[in-house]
Amino acid sequence: VNQFMKSLVGSKSIRGFALAAFFLAAFASPAPDPELLRGPYLQNQTETAVTVLWATAGTESSGVVEVDGIGPFAAQSEGDLGSITRHRARVTGLEGDTDYRYRIRTDNLRQSDWTPFHTNKPQGKPLRFILIGDSGDGADQSHQKNVASQMVRANPDFWLHLGDLVQSNYREDDFDYNTARHFAIYQQLNRSRPHCPTRGNHESTGVQFRKDFDFPPSTAAVPEVYDFTYGDFWIASLSTGHRGDFRDPKDDSSGLYRDQWQYVWLRERLRTVAKPFLWKLVMFHRPTYNSAMRYEEFMVKGTKDITELCEDEGVDFIAFGHVHALQRSKPVRRGRVVGRSLGVVHLGSSGGGAMNLAGPGKRDYFHTDFVEGAKWGFLQVDVSYKRGASKCTLTFIDENGSVLDRWSKKKKAPRKR
Ligand SMILES: [Fe+2]
Repeated sequence: VNQFMKSLVGSKSIRGFALAAFFLAAFASPAPDPELLRGPYLQNQTETAVTVLWATAGTESSGVVEVDGIGPFAAQSEGDLGSITRHRARVTGLEGDTDYRYRIRTDNLRQSDWTPFHTNKPQGKPLRFILIGDSGDGADQSHQKNVASQMVRANPDFWLHLGDLVQSNYREDDFDYNTARHFAIYQQLNRSRPHCPTRGNHESTGVQFRKDFDFPPSTAAVPEVYDFTYGDFWIASLSTGHRGDFRDPKDDSSGLYRDQWQYVWLRERLRTVAKPFLWKLVMFHRPTYNSAMRYEEFMVKGTKDITELCEDEGVDFIAFGHVHALQRSKPVRRGRVVGRSLGVVHLGSSGGGAMNLAGPGKRDYFHTDFVEGAKWGFLQVDVSYKRGASKCTLTFIDENGSVLDRWSKKKKAPRKR
């Protein structure tokens, strides 16, 4: 159309007509453009599909995602809050480990340039992902922005959020607040890299939170309890969010105790889907073993039961937020420090931008190997392969790009599948 308009405007004989038509069209249509308020951002990516989400002003627009060389995908476009439209398009029929590009259109307005993305890598391929938590400080968000730009520099395949997406409570009636305090800060990464959130206590009712993401399909009672795989990693997200928002009436706390629903769901996934995966990570917002002064106070309900299940089923890492510090435990099993291949490493990555509360942290717990409570930053996870072994390297990086801590673990890699 641009080319066509250019040729029209370029031809002197009809330039006047074209300009007149343009102004007529501009003034004849009273409906304002559906201004882009958030996104586009990627969710729930697999080797063959990805969901593109964005939101526009006004309640009655409709969206389309074009994937170069594949075709258009109509979005589900639904008005919300009396003032916005949420657009959600599931792009399918893709090939794994492949570069694509997409752009979005709302009504007839193109709202993004061609934007690259790369579908999930299969098992046996090197990969990188990032974990942050507790983002969005109440002031100028400078630390949050610094951490976000280091995350862009790290160029991960995807990233995980460990909960408390905004510093104050996630707003149920203020879409712009959640956008400014969270989505806008990570937009550069989110348009090309999928991210997977964990529900924290700030995502209090969960209503807007659930609309803002596309979780992988789950057999759990709530959508934010889910798992997914990428390369040789299996990753599960549990909820330690708001109490009283769980569907099981028998559950008076978190559902994390032995034989309660989150525990049962996790056990089933660990014994089936997760089984063939080399690396396993379980994430939730409230902490397990940690080194901050708020250790006992905020330890998740059912920590002991969930932790023992993870120990017994070969989970490598438990990751949490909430404590506002960066920290890594030694491998722990049944409350004792053990060898690298025998225990679970507990990872706190909650330096995403929120005001720092943990101070320098407490270093005298037996399990503590690294703790930094006075800096903002993130945890980077790299999987590499060499001579029949797979190495998983954990690196804590601060808001200036400096490495704070590095630790790795090796496993015999399975034969090529
Ligand atoms: Fe929290």
